[in-house]
Amino acid sequence: MTVVLFTCAGQRVDIVTAFRRAGATTVATDLSELAPALYAADHRELIPPVGDPTYIETVAALVRRYEASLVVPLTDLDHEVLAANRDAIPALVLLAGIDAIRRCADKWLAHCFFEEVGLPTPPTWLPDALPEDIPFPVLVKARRGFGSRGIYRASNRQELDYFLARVDAPSMVQQACAGEEFSIDVFCDLESRCLNAVPRTMIESKGGETIKGKTIKDRDLIEHGARVAEALGIVGPANVQCFREPDGRLPVTDVNPRFGGGFPLPTAAGSRYPELALELAAGGRPEPRLGEFEDGVVLTRYFGEMILHEVAGRLEVMPQDALTVEHPRGT
Ligand SMILES: Nc1ncnc2c1ncn2[C@@H]1O[C@H](COP(=O)(O)OP(=O)(O)O)[C@@H](O)[C@H]1O
Ligand SMILES: [Mg+2]
Repeated sequence: MTVVLFTCAGQRVDIVTAFRRAGATTVATDLSELAPALYAADHRELIPPVGDPTYIETVAALVRRYEASLVVPLTDLDHEVLAANRDAIPALVLLAGIDAIRRCADKWLAHCFFEEVGLPTPPTWLPDALPEDIPFPVLVKARRGFGSRGIYRASNRQELDYFLARVDAPSMVQQACAGEEFSIDVFCDLESRCLNAVPRTMIESKGGETIKGKTIKDRDLIEHGARVAEALGIVGPANVQCFREPDGRLPVTDVNPRFGGGFPLPTAAGSRYPELALELAAGGRPEPRLGEFEDGVVLTRYFGEMILHEVAGRLEVMPQDALTVEHPRGT
């Protein structure tokens, strides 16, 4: 059985569970014992923060101890350190190379790259090189922002100056797109060949997380997702975000080189990304199956929880039976 080690497992119960269903033995790691995904895995391990000098050796030691053949990072937090030190980890690290990671982490670098390779990207400027005739509305966006943080919409020069004077994170100014926003969950093999791309609509999202969305079998979006992923050199999963402008262009606004927040939707639609990841770890070379997924599958989200209690000095999942509370009936 393939053993998969997840780093920065956090709240990604959905991903750990999907790999278990795909037949993997799962080891979840996080720095906090309250990360819910730890309790969805076969084994859990607390590890130091990403910035700790022993982070990589800790991950490598766990890979050896559990004989894991695949490492899957679940947030962006450790991408750079993992991509830069993958040779020190005796397993397949399901992550793009360091150049792709740096480009995806810095929205300005991503924009420059897309311009260079001829992929559509919204007109974007650095604050000290703004043109006289900026086409408002524009967004002030933190270059290394995430979760929709550090984004401010300006309708005129006065508003733009106001935000630029107040942001402290390195930022850029980007033309606001007018059309509908889409998110494409892609998966590439070790040579960055795109194996599938599942676009979805963003019916509702909060803080960058999809709350409601629907898979859409749209040829242009599928091919666009694949083209962007292959140009960047994605390995494993990525989430490509773009708008469809009135003229049909699909400017890319954000790429996350990991499983997207909407992961349960492409999974339910038949993406089989966990199975593909396990196949790559076993040395297989799965064939691309672009567009093979179910159209019109809808995700609608709610809060979930994990109830824990202490057993012999260690937190364990509390059995559901113990949660049954007798409610007094009638008065
Ligand atoms: N150029 C743009 N035009 C219109 N809306 C945008 C643009 N860029 C970002 N947004 C909106 O802001 C949200 C977050 O921006 P994004 O670039 O995805 O950053 P992140 O997800 O890393 O915080 C997007 O999902 C989108 O709704
Ligand atoms: Mg985004």
